[in-house]
Formats: sequence, structure tokens, C-alpha cells
Amino acid sequence: MRFENRVVVITGGGSGMGLAAARMFAAEGAIVAINDLVPDRVAEAVGQVEEAGGRAFAIPGDVSDEEVARERVREVVSRQGRVDVLVNCAGISTIKPAVEYDAWRRTMGVNLDAPFYWSRAAAIQSMIPNRSGAIVIVSSNAAFAGFPGDVGYIASKHGAAGLTKALAVEWASHGIRVNCLCPGLTETNMIRDMEALDANRFVERRRRIPLGRIGRPEEQANAMLYLASDEASYVTGLVMNNDGGQMALYSGFSPG
Ligand SMILES: NC(=O)c1ccc[n+]([C@@H]2O[C@H](COP(=O)([O-])OP(=O)(O)OC[C@H]3O[C@@H](n4cnc5c(N)ncnc54)[C@H](O)[C@@H]3O)[C@@H](O)[C@H]2O)c1
Repeated sequence: MRFENRVVVITGGGSGMGLAAARMFAAEGAIVAINDLVPDRVAEAVGQVEEAGGRAFAIPGDVSDEEVARERVREVVSRQGRVDVLVNCAGISTIKPAVEYDAWRRTMGVNLDAPFYWSRAAAIQSMIPNRSGAIVIVSSNAAFAGFPGDVGYIASKHGAAGLTKALAVEWASHGIRVNCLCPGLTETNMIRDMEALDANRFVERRRRIPLGRIGRPEEQANAMLYLASDEASYVTGLVMNNDGGQMALYSGFSPG
């Protein structure tokens, strides 16, 4: 029960690894405020947490809108008194060649503007005055290297790692830790949707995962819980792979 009575905000908590994290924080005693774009999806996530005996409530809305970030954090603080943990998990990807890429602004908005807006709102309204808080920003293996066909994703995920370091060093004196989780290929709707459009998209990547399989959402959530917990009390500014060894593999080699 590492999060007994702690107030945890999760963006993108309606699906995939954000939903897994919501369930797992709640199972360890947290009160979880779940954001996602689609209100029905948020309601369903809250229902799943409650069904398992946990505590959760809905804070739906578009993460990329700074006013929404401020308002939703205000709602959490007025209801629960504070925000102890913020997990920025909402993310989008659009597969298109760079010359035709029309999702640049939207992708930056969701993947990079949003973690800044939500982190700033939580810091101003709760974590700085309380001199305590833990923030996790979910980036990707795309924070370290490029791949063809999603320039906005790669640029925004590199940015999320930079945002993490900037906030970690600036807010350390306020007692706030900020860390970045970089998942490798993980079995969620994001990957399922991409494979539905192009069945071959991840064939080679799947073959080149040293641990021999794609990750599970719960394995990413485990890392989020660790980074948010007191066990990581000396960890800040970390950009952490959780990828079955994908980024450790020398380019051009096959796993043994
Ligand atoms: N699945 C992978 O292989 C993988 C790998 C690396 C990084 N990631 C990152 O992990 C995070 C979670 O993704 P996932 O794999 O669980 O996918 P997912 O699609 O299951 O979950 C993403 C959630 O974000 C929500 N979302 C999207 N735009 C939003 C907005 N404007 N406002 C509020 N919510 C919004 C979606 O509705 C969805 O519920 C993302 O940041 C993604 O980039 C995923």
C-alpha cells in the first residue's frame, strides 16, 4: 500500500498503460483522478477501479488545453485537498511521411504541451505550496532515436524527455521529483490501431526485442508506480527505458 490515501492524477487513464496505472495506484490505496478525452471511457475506467474496491473519480477533457488542465487540477484540489502524484500518460501518434504530415500541432499539443500544462498546474496549485510531489511524464523509445513516418511523435517525445530534465532541476528545491518513463513497444490500443492499418509495421521491431516479446501495460504501470513512490525518493530527472532491451541492442544486430 505505497499510495495509501495519496491523491494521484492520471491523464490518458481511460485506456492502455494509463488505465493499468489507475487500477494499480488504486489497488495500493490511492485516490485516483482519471482524465481522458472521451468521457465514456473515463467513466468506464472509474467503474473498473471501483469494482475492484478502489477509489477513483472522473476528470475528463482534452489534455492539450491549458485551461482544462488548470480547471481539472483545481477540481481535484478542491475535492481532495492536494495532488501528490501526477502521471502524464495521454499520447497520440499519426503515421504519415514527413512531407505530408498534418498532425504536427495536434501531436505537440497532446504529447508535449499537455505534460507541461498539467505539471505546471499541479505544481502551482498543490506541489509547490505543499513542498512535495512526484510527476511522471510518459515519453517513449522515440525519445532516443528516430523511425520513419511519425516526425511529430519523435520530436514531441524527445521534447518530453527535455521537459522532464528542465522541471526536475527547477523544482527539486520545492521537493518535487520529475521523471520520464520511456516505454518500448507495449500491447495497447495505440499499437493495435497502427497494426490494423499496416499489419507489417512492427514485424521487424517485434523480432528485435531482446526479451523476445512485446511489453504489457502493467509492466509500464509498474515503472510509473515505482517512479512515483517513496522508493524513488532520490530519483529525479531520470529518463528511464522500460523496453525489454530494445534500446540496448546495437543497430544492425539481431538479438541473441
Ligand atoms: N504502446 C506503446 O507501444 C507505447 C510505446 C511508447 C510510448 N507510449 C506512450 O504511452 C502513452 C500511453 O499510450 P498507450 O500505449 O497506453 O495507448 P492508448 O491509446 O491505449 O492510451 C492513450 C490514451 O490517451 C488518450 N488521449 C489521447 N488524446 C488525448 C487528449 N487530447 N486528451 C486526453 N486524453 C487523450 C486516449 O484517449 C487514450 O485513452 C502515450 O503517451 C504513448 O505515446 C506507448
